[in-house]
Amino acid sequence: MKPRLCVIGAGTFGEMHLRAGLQLTREGVADLVGFADTNPELVRLREERYGIKGYPDLDTMLDACRPDAVTIATPDFLHRDLAVACLERGIHVLTEKPMDTSVAGCLDMIDAAERAGCLLQVDFMKRKDPYHLDLERRVRTGQVGQVLYGYAWFEDKIEVPTKWLSSWAARSDPAWFLGVHLFDLVGWIVRGRAVQVSATGAKVKLPTLGIDTYDSIQTRVVYDTGASFTFDLAWHFPEGGEALVHQGIKLVGSEGWMTVDSQDRGARGCVAGPTAVGVGADRGQDAARMFTPNLGLFQADQDPSGGEWYRGYAIDSIAEFGRNVHFLANGGSLAALEGRYPSGADGLEATRVAVAVHDSLDAGGQVISLG
Ligand SMILES: NC(=O)c1ccc[n+]([C@@H]2O[C@H](COP(=O)([O-])OP(=O)(O)OC[C@H]3O[C@@H](n4cnc5c(N)ncnc54)[C@H](O)[C@@H]3O)[C@@H](O)[C@H]2O)c1
Repeated sequence: MKPRLCVIGAGTFGEMHLRAGLQLTREGVADLVGFADTNPELVRLREERYGIKGYPDLDTMLDACRPDAVTIATPDFLHRDLAVACLERGIHVLTEKPMDTSVAGCLDMIDAAERAGCLLQVDFMKRKDPYHLDLERRVRTGQVGQVLYGYAWFEDKIEVPTKWLSSWAARSDPAWFLGVHLFDLVGWIVRGRAVQVSATGAKVKLPTLGIDTYDSIQTRVVYDTGASFTFDLAWHFPEGGEALVHQGIKLVGSEGWMTVDSQDRGARGCVAGPTAVGVGADRGQDAARMFTPNLGLFQADQDPSGGEWYRGYAIDSIAEFGRNVHFLANGGSLAALEGRYPSGADGLEATRVAVAVHDSLDAGGQVISLG
């Protein structure tokens, strides 16, 4: 049986959800049957581009499409209500990160999933980056010994809060938009729970542009395994940078170490037109400028009939949800999937760290202990 799939929120990243749904349809895993977005102009654009029927709100879409599963790519603060509404109707849910911006919200979602016996998965796509899969495997098999400490950085160009998220950037910040990815990634790799968090932040540049939020947040997290990591998170980097995202990780163990530079993967050029790959790829410029593409994230290839064939870890992470739902629809159990995907419990853990980051910021950088 092929499950019916819908997307909720078809904005900048929701477009990736539509592509992943179409890819699952092409591979015969699921059928993407519709999407909902409250912006009528965007609905028209996406319908035209992808040939999938769009609806103006959740209820109209659910009534018309009767999906078995939905993926949610609305602004962060809407994930909870939309997810709970779907779970209460017995619909499996993949939600974008952060799962919710409160611990109580995450618990509501987990509760609703448990009551309905439904899958609740979080789109922590960094886990699907092949370099991170490799790093996790090497740590898991003991190749670096015991993880002692590390450092991860994730820094976006200022176009992300000013253009991409212009309508809701003030309700987010580098810890919510970027940090939760790394909190999940590191927690998954070291197999630890955060026990201590401290953070400092700066609000210098964005407030001058009318966006009252942090430019940067630096945080240190200590895990129950004894490992400690520092995270540099920012989204005010100048437009002139070579990539939308400057990111990487260094990890040091008792027997070895590894670093991954997730921005500069070896390709470099100086071209006119769009330089982004996949996300915001339509935003170009006339004058040639330097760029370093991250081709692992997303690529549109061709299938034998000349149709588009999507791949990359942004697709893989969403497609994994589709495969999980297919497994469940064909006799598989939630118990058999346990530990093999980013779950509601993982989403809760990343949110717990992000909330502690904000508690520490509010307390002038004090160390917050998590039970
Ligand atoms: N996994 C990743 O790497 C990644 C990358 C970027 C963004 N995100 C996450 O994806 C989510 C969306 O981010 P974005 O950048 O696409 O934002 P966006 O503002 O571009 O898109 C959000 C869309 O949701 C629509 N919307 C709002 N309320 C709605 C409702 N009630 N029902 C249906 N649609 C509604 C808006 O009209 C808009 O088109 C956020 O949670 C963000 O953190 C994840």
